[in-house]
Amino acid sequence: MTTEALPTPRATSLPPSSVHAVFRSVNAWERRTGRKAARLDVGEPHFPPPGAAVEALAKAARDGHTGYTSAEGMSTLREALAAKLVENNAHDTGADRVYICAGAAQGLTALIQSLADPGDEILLPAFHWPIHLQQSLLTGLRPVSYPLDDQFRPDLDALRRLGGERTRILLVNSPSNPTGAVYDRQLLRELWELAEQRNWQIISDEAYEDFVFEGAHVSLGSLERNVPPARRRVSTVFSFSKTYGMTGYRLGYVVTPDVARGATFQVVQEASILSSPTPVQHAGLAALESTAEVRSNRESVRAAREGLRALDRESLLAAFPSGGWFALLDISSLATDAETFAAAVLDEHAIALAPAHGFALRPTVRTDGSLGPMASDPRAAGHLRLAFCGQPATVHDAAKKVASFARTWSEREHVR
Ligand SMILES: Cc1ncc(COP(=O)(O)O)c(C=O)c1O
Repeated sequence: MTTEALPTPRATSLPPSSVHAVFRSVNAWERRTGRKAARLDVGEPHFPPPGAAVEALAKAARDGHTGYTSAEGMSTLREALAAKLVENNAHDTGADRVYICAGAAQGLTALIQSLADPGDEILLPAFHWPIHLQQSLLTGLRPVSYPLDDQFRPDLDALRRLGGERTRILLVNSPSNPTGAVYDRQLLRELWELAEQRNWQIISDEAYEDFVFEGAHVSLGSLERNVPPARRRVSTVFSFSKTYGMTGYRLGYVVTPDVARGATFQVVQEASILSSPTPVQHAGLAALESTAEVRSNRESVRAAREGLRALDRESLLAAFPSGGWFALLDISSLATDAETFAAAVLDEHAIALAPAHGFALRPTVRTDGSLGPMASDPRAAGHLRLAFCGQPATVHDAAKKVASFARTWSEREHVR
């Protein structure tokens, strides 16, 4: 008897996230060599969660607050977040549009699923967080890359030429991972107006809202204050991971444009995770009171960012980051590629960086929905992503070493 080959699930052809690939390979290097690397390859902050959040987590676990919550999350936390959204983000929202999720990452996947169908298009920035691409592909969407200018801001004219019948979502990420770009109010307004003309939904990923060092963070949803809810189009994703150093707690939240889209999102949440972990939601409620820690975390990243001046002076930054905690190192003037440079700087100085190629992938999706060849934005060659959320002294030291390593690169190649 012959068995027919089963169709291959979409997930088998998905590109693994380059962040995790580099993370694993640096871990393997550390095990092999017995050395510790300065981990500028990953965005893991050096600061711990606020003490009050740790206590609240432990207390909730001890006191038996360990059952399910509703899919939308604990009402006390949703109300506290709605107050924060009104006060800090100038949103016009109530708790009924706030949904707790297991990290911004889980909220993003659920949002994409709740806003689009397989075969629809999603507009992703040419340089993006690789998980945005994976989430889109896993949902069966066709990612379309929109160009960015030399400061890594969306090129509006180019964006106007993109999109068609099946375009459903424009994904915006300011402050940006991996570029450090921050979009001002005017640009955000123009993006919103374009989305309105074209009837695109907007997903605004604002995971780095509390790390803006030039200008101020403008939340895209605040531009919809005077728009009737049914005509709103911004769904926003926030995270506790960055602001409070709570990466492993897995806590984030989504604000939907209106109650109807909230109801759809809630169904996806029910189907995906039932509810977010309860003790962690208690920790989130306590974290919201920890304003001193938020200030200190921001100042620590700001101090670390100053270390990047050593790279900027050597013209080794594609753009000085205005926010977030990533920057793109530009080594395109050296006679090498990003992978070779990353391996050499790891071996010689124990500094881990992530080649930018994996942050700029442009897959083609065939008419049958299968994945075709994977190109990447031509600007990614000769670039590496550098995370500056480590101890400021570590970042300063690493930046200096990378700058002098790059300076002597040609000479070293010659000697070899
Ligand atoms: C742009 C962006 N969005 C979302 C996330 C994920 O946040 P969370 O830890 O809340 O899932 C990250 C994490 O690196 C990120 O860089």
